[in-house]
Amino acid sequence: MTDTLENPRMSAAAGTAAPLLSVRNIEVVYDDVILVLRGLSLDVPKGAIVALLGANGAGKSTTLKAISGLLKTEDGAVTRGEIMFDGARIDGIDPEKIVRRGIFQVMEGRRIVSDMTSLENLKLGAFTRSDRDVNRDIEMVFNYFPRLKERTGLAGYLSGGEQQMLAIGRALMARPKMILMDEPSMGLSPLLVKEVFAIIKEINRDLGVTILLVEQNARAALSVASHGYIMEQGKVVLDGTADSLRDNEDVKEFYLGGAGDQRKSFKNLKSFKRRKRWL
Ligand SMILES: Nc1ncnc2c1ncn2[C@@H]1O[C@H](COP(=O)(O)OP(=O)(O)O)[C@@H](O)[C@H]1O
Ligand SMILES: [Mg+2]
Repeated sequence: MTDTLENPRMSAAAGTAAPLLSVRNIEVVYDDVILVLRGLSLDVPKGAIVALLGANGAGKSTTLKAISGLLKTEDGAVTRGEIMFDGARIDGIDPEKIVRRGIFQVMEGRRIVSDMTSLENLKLGAFTRSDRDVNRDIEMVFNYFPRLKERTGLAGYLSGGEQQMLAIGRALMARPKMILMDEPSMGLSPLLVKEVFAIIKEINRDLGVTILLVEQNARAALSVASHGYIMEQGKVVLDGTADSLRDNEDVKEFYLGGAGDQRKSFKNLKSFKRRKRWL
């Protein structure tokens, strides 16, 4: 039994081994005044897929940017707490150094370079590497995403699904220990969501890459993750195994029932406080 709010270090995902990524009670402020994350904690065990779920505006992207160091580019900063990765503290470090330590973020809205080909985009992903295996890894990416090999034109002409595949492929080219994915399902048809998530699972299994998966599509995310965290207004309000979250009545009602933006807040739910103790 865990309760993230009162016991940030005892999250459900922690297990016995030290997690690869540990976000401990962080606060994030934009422009020196806008407080967005208010004591957020989460753990990602090595080799796991962990889902970070929540409605629009909850602070999911901010959490990923705090981890990847990209907050700096938006005048944001971690003002309290700490972020540990692979045994060392990484909050406050430049984004490029964080990439070199093994974390690669796939940004929301698949930011690929549209006036370059897929191949050129993939080579860009390998910019931190000096080894000679880049070509072999390009073949590996094409094995996961055969369509990218067939489509030799500019990436801007790829379909939404193909662009998402390219964004993930580019992340793989950095040979990261961990990938942060920001809403890979966004804008994709249900069929494509299935296809992309099946490949995410396969990549995790084959390569052992640890994945922190941010989603509004809780159903898709919990189908591949082992653990999940649900956040609201800059805090984790619930966490547990993917199975326990899928079976949780409140999660069903608010995140799996297709309520969309009509959903109410967990905090206004009478049953929430009682139920969360059982997760
Ligand atoms: N660069 C920024 N400057 C100021 N406020 C921001 C910035 N980016 C995001 N926010 C605010 O932080 C909150 C959380 O945003 P975000 O992390 O993008 O949420 P999510 O990804 O869950 O939709 C929102 O209220 C948003 O307006
Ligand atoms: Mg976002």
